[in-house]
Amino acid sequence: MVRDVENNLDQIHQQALNELEGAESSREIEDISIRYLGRKGILTQFLRNISKLPAEQRPAAGKKANEIKNVLDKTLKAAAEKLVSPDNAKDTKIDVSLPGRVFARGTLHPITQVNQEMCDIFSSLGFDIGEGPEVESDWYNFEALNFPKDHPARDMQDTFFVSDDIVLRTHTSPFQIRTMEKRPPPVRIITPGKVYRCDSDLTHTPMFHQVEGLLVDENISFSDLKGILTAFFHQMFDEQTSLRFRPSFFPFTEPSAEVDILCVMCRGQGCRVCSHTGWLEILGSGMVHPALYENVGYDADRYTGFAFGMGVERIAMLKYGIDDIRRFFENDMRFLSQF
Ligand code: PHE
Repeated sequence: MVRDVENNLDQIHQQALNELEGAESSREIEDISIRYLGRKGILTQFLRNISKLPAEQRPAAGKKANEIKNVLDKTLKAAAEKLVSPDNAKDTKIDVSLPGRVFARGTLHPITQVNQEMCDIFSSLGFDIGEGPEVESDWYNFEALNFPKDHPARDMQDTFFVSDDIVLRTHTSPFQIRTMEKRPPPVRIITPGKVYRCDSDLTHTPMFHQVEGLLVDENISFSDLKGILTAFFHQMFDEQTSLRFRPSFFPFTEPSAEVDILCVMCRGQGCRVCSHTGWLEILGSGMVHPALYENVGYDADRYTGFAFGMGVERIAMLKYGIDDIRRFFENDMRFLSQF
């Protein structure tokens, strides 16, 4: 008699598993669950009717029925979880016409791109490329460049001080000294890198990039400086880019000149970008001051040379027509992905 009850239970279990085999959606699995385990389900009914069995059969039948109920419950839940698309398992066939997922591809930052282009042009003009530290001593950033202590020219640069004697470099010019200390003339080198000034508005950020150039040899004159810079800007923009040299002052060059280029937006007609002057101020330059040669042990009677320094952001803004320098550093993908 007990056998019969147990066989009966096994049959119910098997039947449920068979039905599950044919189930293809979570809806169908749910139906099976209700049919067997629901309030009026087959197993539930069975458990209810156990009281009608002879007393000695009840414990074994109850135990077995409960076991099967638990196992079946687990099996059904696991099967439901396995279905990928809950209610439409029948439709989860692979749609080969569906376009694949597109992964966004990274690009070089516009400043990096312009930086590389500048380096490429100067390389083609015979310049080596070198790099110096961003944290500099007062000596390299100022003193060796002929900025005496307390000289008002130091105020031209809104310096970030690390300590009394250590600064975040305010320009790439310290690399002139570092280069000349290390190698004898002739030198022909550029150095790209980050510089820091306590300044922030539409055209200034506390960190920006410069490219500095230095050329020292025998018989170098101001016309060589003009020639190199003209060749550079013709390649950077185009052959119509004319240059204008204005007298200026830097402690480490004599004579010094600020260089303007003909406005690349309006070609000298006058527009918002050039403040209606037709010209854009683009770099500082000059002939290396003899005091620097003394600081590095060059023969000032034998050698002459020139140096120049320009902002990479400024050139990138002109090249791409960007009117706010801060765009470069906001890391907005909509902006950056255009380059
Ligand atoms: N270091 C100067 C600046 O940052 C630019 C410069 C470089 C001027 C080389 C002359 C020679 O303003």
